[in-house]
Amino acid sequence: MNLKNPKIKRPGETEGESKRFFISTYGCQMNVNDTDRMACLLEMSGYAPIPRPEMADLILINSCSIREKPVHKVRSEAGRYRKLKMNNPKLKIGVAGCVAQQERGRLLKDIPFIDFVLGTDAIDELPSLLASLEEKGAKQISVRQTPKEPYHIQTLIKNPKVSAFVNISKGCDNFCSFCVVPFTRGRERSRPLQHIVEDLRALYQRGVREVTLLGQNVNSYRSECGADFGRLLEALAVQTDIQRIRFTTSHPKDFNKELVEIMQDHRDKIMDFIHLPVQSGSTEVLRRMNRGYSREEYIEKALMILEKMPESVLSTDIIVGFPGETEEEFEETMSLLDEVPYESLFSFKYSPRPFTKAAFYENQLPESEKSRRLYALQEKHEKIAFSLARKYKGQVLSVLAEKRDKKSGLFMGRSTHNKLVYFEGVEEDLGCILPIQIQRTFPLTFYGEKVS
Ligand code: SAH
Ligand code: SF4
Ligand code: F3S
Repeated sequence: MNLKNPKIKRPGETEGESKRFFISTYGCQMNVNDTDRMACLLEMSGYAPIPRPEMADLILINSCSIREKPVHKVRSEAGRYRKLKMNNPKLKIGVAGCVAQQERGRLLKDIPFIDFVLGTDAIDELPSLLASLEEKGAKQISVRQTPKEPYHIQTLIKNPKVSAFVNISKGCDNFCSFCVVPFTRGRERSRPLQHIVEDLRALYQRGVREVTLLGQNVNSYRSECGADFGRLLEALAVQTDIQRIRFTTSHPKDFNKELVEIMQDHRDKIMDFIHLPVQSGSTEVLRRMNRGYSREEYIEKALMILEKMPESVLSTDIIVGFPGETEEEFEETMSLLDEVPYESLFSFKYSPRPFTKAAFYENQLPESEKSRRLYALQEKHEKIAFSLARKYKGQVLSVLAEKRDKKSGLFMGRSTHNKLVYFEGVEEDLGCILPIQIQRTFPLTFYGEKVS
């Protein structure tokens, strides 16, 4: 994709006329990044973004199907656009993302007023799909997955900010028994290492100072030439000027001592915040989840990371109410919080997903029990998180200033540990790494003051 020649005229377009698009995004960072890519492709095709759907000529819903709730949101959001479509028959509405990939042609039947469905591997086809839609006037669907094609893309962001997402791999081959992602994102493939190096160099030239490397399972990255994730991190730290490198999501089974050593060797650039989803504290539940590690192995790894990188911060994901999870097994998850000091926790009630093994397991738990467990876990973690955050009070943290918060007028940025830090600043601070002394702490958000 050539960014130097961004304006491609659409068929029938006259000079000065610009169609407007609106994209709403659900789900993970991967989807946020895909939205940036679609927005960039649309702008290259002559469309202009608008912040609200009412005046749009094109509305795209970039959907997520990780749990049932975000799937419902697609249908209810699309429902809200039905009226817009009735008032403006020229309006085009499309569904992209994981629900599109999962439901495919069914979506066109279920939501009859949408015009197209765009799968997770078909993003780059968006401009040609829109052209066909105009020319043929018939509904379009593009959901072909390309498991054998090499994953050669260039990061596309029209107006990059201080911090940017960069895909390093896509898809997942782990098939955790609860998870729909291997079915929506397809088989795992990695980008060539040198392409990622070039991406980071180009982003730096455009003002980006921090990148978050993205993959469903980043640390199983393997380039065509055989480099693993550690080698990739090393290359990016040494061969580019990017100041901060983050990554998500790591799978515990693929996190090892060598990787921690590389992170430690390049700690000036590789951030010591590690999101290491555990999912459950019970070895038996982990086995039924097909996670590939036991409670003990996980704890050993987490403590090894904290020992080798004493400044590092851990966060995790937990699912409660997995099919057949007994009270004792749930208590094992509760007690894991006493053994691993998670500074942040994302917890979810198990939600049965299409195609997945666990959806067919016996002993699905009632919603009320899942809710009770979720509440108990979150209540316990909240106390832990408040207490862990207190240690930062008075500390001077390195904060990369990202933007001014419109509401409070304060500037905001992130510490190396990924804490959101608010402070009084000036425009010139944006894009700089500043020393901020922390005064007030909440688990994920701090308030502080610039010091010299
Ligand atoms: N690749 C990442 C997870 C991506 S999905 C990993 O392996 O850790 C993000 C989170 O959603 C998961 O960590 C899990 O906690 C949650 N999740 C996935 N499927 C779910 C389901 N069926 N019900 C509830 N939560 C789920
Ligand atoms: Fe889903 Fe497991 Fe793959 Fe994560 S590693 S995306 S939870 S299948
Ligand atoms: Fe959702 Fe797909 Fe991401 S299911 S969490 S948008 S990979």
